[in-house]
Amino acid sequence: MTTSSNPPNSVTPDQTSGMWGGRFSEATDAFVAEFTASVQFDQRFYKQDIAGSIAHATMLAKVGVLTEAERDDIIEGLSTIRSEIEAGTFEWRIDLEDVHMNIESRLTQRIGITGKKLHTGRSRNDQVATDIRLYLRDEIDDILKLLERLQKGLLGLAAKNVNTIMPGFTHLQTAQPVTFGHHLLAWFEMLVRDSERLQDCRKRVNRLPLGSAALAGTTYPIDRAYTAELLGFEAVCENSLDAVSDRDFAIEFNAAASLIMMHLSRMSEELILWTSAQFKFVNIPDRFCTGSSIMPQKKNPDVPELIRGKSGRVFGDLISLLTLMKGQPLAYNKDNQEDKEPLFDAIDTVRGSLMAFADMIPALVPNIEIMREAALRGFSTATDLADYLVKKGVAFRDAHEIVGKAVALGVAEEKDLSELSLEQLQQFSDLITADVFDKALTLEASVNARDHIGGTSPKQVEAAIARAHTRLEQLYA
Ligand code: ARG
Repeated sequence: MTTSSNPPNSVTPDQTSGMWGGRFSEATDAFVAEFTASVQFDQRFYKQDIAGSIAHATMLAKVGVLTEAERDDIIEGLSTIRSEIEAGTFEWRIDLEDVHMNIESRLTQRIGITGKKLHTGRSRNDQVATDIRLYLRDEIDDILKLLERLQKGLLGLAAKNVNTIMPGFTHLQTAQPVTFGHHLLAWFEMLVRDSERLQDCRKRVNRLPLGSAALAGTTYPIDRAYTAELLGFEAVCENSLDAVSDRDFAIEFNAAASLIMMHLSRMSEELILWTSAQFKFVNIPDRFCTGSSIMPQKKNPDVPELIRGKSGRVFGDLISLLTLMKGQPLAYNKDNQEDKEPLFDAIDTVRGSLMAFADMIPALVPNIEIMREAALRGFSTATDLADYLVKKGVAFRDAHEIVGKAVALGVAEEKDLSELSLEQLQQFSDLITADVFDKALTLEASVNARDHIGGTSPKQVEAAIARAHTRLEQLYA
């Protein structure tokens, strides 16, 4: 488009280069227009874009840059556009590049030249930074709700399994008996830290870039604190160059999302093992599983497998954003348009995964007898026997040696320590007496003995669950 033949204040009939046509002597190449566009994916934050524009117009009217009538026309126009978008009647145009210009162009089409005043004292650079922050803040709040639901589900299942005993593993080899409730509380703790991390990240997301304009601020007498207040931001970004350019808050979110996925992936891995025919510790109800098209007997733990797999893409999203950012000089560069898809993908993936877990956890059915059977194998009470000897005055290293020999006998005879006779045990130490079976070699004795904060005893797990409920209330207050 050549320099405008339209009179000042006109509504450009061809909106194609209407936003910047003044300087250009030919229209954007069709392929370039499509290649540089982001409307295909940034239309997802139309609501935040409109909310940001309404706040901006309200502020401009407050400081006298717009009249109240102009402000009202803009707000009404934008509200109608929001309805059009939600009704599916809004025509998204790729030639208008992004969500911002699509909405602004439609506003001008609807309300005339007042629409052209909305962009006063603003740039798409501070506009898009504001939109992403508003959008991410909303998503963080939703994700926190999902985390809370999953955590409550874990506490519910743990409460039912305070006394359920299973083998605890190190190196995936039987180590010591633990209660299933205790194991579930380990998962709970991971999610507490995930929630704290997200809440901490939210503080840095919740600052207002608007007012930074393109990079240096604006010549209008703007009131940024007022705009921040209207949009519920805790504070304004202090430096305009920084505000329009950095996406560290999105990187931080993706890091927090990666840690959530890492935790869900570890939980998934355990569920996959536990539901196998070799473990059979837990049943996942059929509605969370699928079968095989060839092997009639199969019931596959698809949901945990998929979540374990999806963790990889969120880690990838984090690396994408870090790499996107690292070479950029101040201030805004078009590179930053690439921030959206990895952020959206991480949001969608973590949401879906948490939703699946929150639904699945309360539905898990532990096979209590099978877990117990498994804990009786693998010499899980060997440490307890050593501790028994220590309490009778043997030095721990010597006790370790004595029990090692008893285990070797058990291996040879294919018997657990509790299945060896008293005489057999006494070959290794005459300090072993008949009370060893009750005091050291039962599963209950073993778990009950770990009776301190953080320990696996049913009494401690019960207390930990009670504390966890209080901590949840504080976490989500
Ligand atoms: N669509 C752009 C983005 O996502 C909006 C900002 C464009 N700013 C610019 N100076 N070209 O980053």
